[in-house]
Amino acid sequence: MSTIRINIDNAGVSGDLCAIESEVKQAMQTLHEGSGAGNDFLGWIHLPSSIDDAQLADIQKTADSLRAKANLIIVIGIGGSYLGAKAVIEAMSDNFRNLRKGANGPTVVFAGQNLSEDYLYELMQAAGEHEVAAVVISKSGTTTEPAVAFRLIKEMIEKRYGKAEAATRIVAVTDAARGALRKLATQEGYKTFVIPDNVGGRFSVLTPVGLLPIAAAGIDIAALVNGAREMEAATAPTVPFAENPAAQYAAARNILYRKGYKTEILAAYEPKLLFVAEWWKQLYGESEGKDHKGIFPASVTLTADLHSMGQYIQQGERTLMETVISVGAPLHTVKIESDEANLDGLNFLAGKRVSEVNRMAELGTMLAHVDGGVPNIKVEIPSITPYNIGALLYFFEAACGISGYTLGVNPFDQPGVEAYKKNMFALLDKPGYEAEGEAIRKRLK
Ligand code: PA5
Repeated sequence: MSTIRINIDNAGVSGDLCAIESEVKQAMQTLHEGSGAGNDFLGWIHLPSSIDDAQLADIQKTADSLRAKANLIIVIGIGGSYLGAKAVIEAMSDNFRNLRKGANGPTVVFAGQNLSEDYLYELMQAAGEHEVAAVVISKSGTTTEPAVAFRLIKEMIEKRYGKAEAATRIVAVTDAARGALRKLATQEGYKTFVIPDNVGGRFSVLTPVGLLPIAAAGIDIAALVNGAREMEAATAPTVPFAENPAAQYAAARNILYRKGYKTEILAAYEPKLLFVAEWWKQLYGESEGKDHKGIFPASVTLTADLHSMGQYIQQGERTLMETVISVGAPLHTVKIESDEANLDGLNFLAGKRVSEVNRMAELGTMLAHVDGGVPNIKVEIPSITPYNIGALLYFFEAACGISGYTLGVNPFDQPGVEAYKKNMFALLDKPGYEAEGEAIRKRLK
């Protein structure tokens, strides 16, 4: 049985599956034959099965050398060069790692995912109290946010350790030949890893983009890749439609979209999965939101957000569908004890595990939302382990490719991301943007 199981019994789509089956199969064929738009970015499909032991060992060795030198590793990147690593590290870390005495291994923090002066100031102040190393990640090598952060962090590391030692504390992950970061890394003599040309940012978590920071955080990357490998097989085009979780998910969400459910909320009852949802939002938002089409990807952490967004989900605009990442079992055991006084009236829960209460909250919420007109898709994982998270990430990637082609868009480009950059460069007087600068200032008067 596959690690990832999908349950669409409460999505209200069973009567429509037959009608969409041939379209989804066609989309799968287009994806796997490489005959669709964006087919020069399909390298992610066989990443899990093509990563070999030598590649993993090189990533692990580099991660180990950073871990040996530093107790604070700053990972610099944005979008697809940030969210995959952040998602896995958050999912696999103790919720309270910062409070744990004697926690072993370095802390991994992120920069370059915003332009906040206070964020960078505070990071560098904190870094002053630690031994530091950095991983700078940019496929294009020219993205402004990470470039600004890296300039500052590079200078800080060089001042502290000297240029020669700094070069051993900085690793770059970028294009094989192009871009400012490649040039800089070559000049400075950094260890580098290559992001394959045919893998787009949001599909790059299983390249060194994700694997190096994840290994630097002390997480088992071989297990992560093995989980993804299982799902590469489980979502292959040879797997029948009814048994293929990626095809089923793509089918269900496209049926619902066509019925007017324009927003998909990804819900998780484990707070550690918050950044898996952030990663998922980029994956689906950037892949499908174009040509004035696409499901808007949103997310909630439950049960917390039942006390904020729950009202809207239950009774607001009826354009929502909900996909729940349902975790089979927690990693630890906490039982609710009986209390003689029972002042809180909770003795009816005595002897139960907290996870049982969480499970009933999940089931009760699912039924309430379905009754309220929010179709439900359930994506089940057995527990939060590197293997299962690797499987989950690959499952979502595979389904995204199929879903995008079923929707009729190119799931592998992101032309809309450039619009803000053009305006920002014009406003910052970047050479080459003089005319745009003049025009945009007139608009802002
Ligand atoms: O998915 C994408 O392609 C984007 O989100 C990029 O990952 C993001 O813009 C960062 O780009 P780069 O890695 O070139 O700095």
